[in-house]
Amino acid sequence: MIPVIVIDGPSGTGKGTLAALLAGRLGWHLLDSGAIYRVLGLAAERRGLALDDPDALTPLATSLPLDFAGDQVLLDGEDVAGLIRTETVGMSASRVAIHPPVRAALLAWQRRCARLPGLVADGRDMGSVVFPDAPLKIFLDASPEIRANRRYKQLIEKGLNANLTNLIMDIRERDTRDRTRSVAPLCAAGDAVLVDSTALSITEVFDRILEEVRRVFPELVW
Ligand code: C5P
Repeated sequence: MIPVIVIDGPSGTGKGTLAALLAGRLGWHLLDSGAIYRVLGLAAERRGLALDDPDALTPLATSLPLDFAGDQVLLDGEDVAGLIRTETVGMSASRVAIHPPVRAALLAWQRRCARLPGLVADGRDMGSVVFPDAPLKIFLDASPEIRANRRYKQLIEKGLNANLTNLIMDIRERDTRDRTRSVAPLCAAGDAVLVDSTALSITEVFDRILEEVRRVFPELVW
């Protein structure tokens, strides 16, 4: 069986950074499932599709012209890795992610990413829906204020525009949509290990996750 570690949680908890660190440390593959929803949101906007119309979005999700190549995220062959990180695209992603047939269309795509020697997958429903048999499930959480603050710093470092008050509002709105949608709502799988990163640095959270990796995969050497 291909080993899978999932890291789920709301945006701004550092799960993307931690998943990338962990995949690098273990030499495993990485799936950033949020990037898929972001690319779908961007592609839908570019094609002029209504984000609340699953009939229009599902065919696009089924044959999404998306590829990951190292740090590049290719949509129709164009690297959109930077573009998909804006708050606007994040909002579009959470709107297209609401539709059950859209999520179903992306399921096979995500499961195909599980390849030897192993996969670290981060998102919202990696443990509850996409990889329910994953032997290690981490659910990362943190207060909306601290998450907005982290996102603010990231955006400023990248030279992008950011407004802290708007970010807190956006995060709350996105959380509500992610947690209350009818299919695959954001919630911890019953067997997930909960980690609250509000008062922890990335290094401290990473150490906590490595403890769990040692517990669940005692045979792993890295
Ligand atoms: O993780 P990230 O902030 O990049 O995700 C963007 C949006 O994509 C989320 O707000 C969520 O609505 C959606 N998403 C999802 N399921 C996932 C990953 C992301 O619904 N597994």
